[in-house]
Amino acid sequence: MKSEVYTPGHTPNATNFMATRTLESHGRFFVPFLSANHNVLDLGCGPGTISVDIARLIAPGKVAGMDSSESQVMQARKHAEEAGVSNADFHVGSCYKLPFVNQSFDRIFCHALMEHLSVPVAALREAFHKLKKDGMIGVCSPDSDGWLLSPSSAEIEAAVTAYADLQQANGGNLRIGKSLGVLLQDAGFTDIHLAARYECYPSLEFIGEYLALQLEKNGFKRHATTLREWAKDSNGMFAQAWVSAVAKRSQ
Ligand SMILES: C[S@@+](CC[C@H](N)C(=O)[O-])C[C@H]1O[C@@H](n2cnc3c(N)ncnc32)[C@H](O)[C@@H]1O
Repeated sequence: MKSEVYTPGHTPNATNFMATRTLESHGRFFVPFLSANHNVLDLGCGPGTISVDIARLIAPGKVAGMDSSESQVMQARKHAEEAGVSNADFHVGSCYKLPFVNQSFDRIFCHALMEHLSVPVAALREAFHKLKKDGMIGVCSPDSDGWLLSPSSAEIEAAVTAYADLQQANGGNLRIGKSLGVLLQDAGFTDIHLAARYECYPSLEFIGEYLALQLEKNGFKRHATTLREWAKDSNGMFAQAWVSAVAKRSQ
């Protein structure tokens, strides 16, 4: 297994960013495939806001949220408790070796994880084994080849390319969105349906700082400064390209 570092880190900046996500805002593509009584795994659940929304939808079924970070699992548990949701539990573990018996889940949801993995197909194969026959997976990841940025300049393009390259050096791939269909097929899934959408970030400051923090930490100070300056433009734009895929385990 190639080495893997989670590029955003679990800073308050990154975690608060993830915690704004809901099933409605980021998982809508999978909602038509979720029903009451389903047993669902949320792979790479982060702070658990999407997992808790899924739990409400599939009650009295159960959601298992899984993340490699203990701090994320603790935050997810706290969020579920505060939300009064008792049909979600959270586990620390690796997506390459899931702590569940084979064929446990009706559905597996996986949002914003594949782009951080050095061997995403291995994680998808592991997910395949944990799905029941006729079970379905919903995966969604960004693709930095589709990012829309304004105002544009050679400097800001170089800064965001440096971030994508940093993620690649960490073992991930920010350009993975377009490959989700092929990866799912290689992992054994069938009936693969792909879609893409844009998310227009409401504040440049938020995304500018998210990217700048890790560039700065890794010694790319000039790129970090470029991003922070760019983020001050109140009429600028950053839009994220997301690819979603829904697929089936048919045997
Ligand atoms: C970008 S966050 C996404 C969180 C949530 N799914 C969302 O979309 O808001 C990715 C999460 O995957 C977790 N992660 C990274 N590598 C992992 C691995 N190998 N196995 C399990 N979780 C992992 C990270 O700790 C992080 O919480």
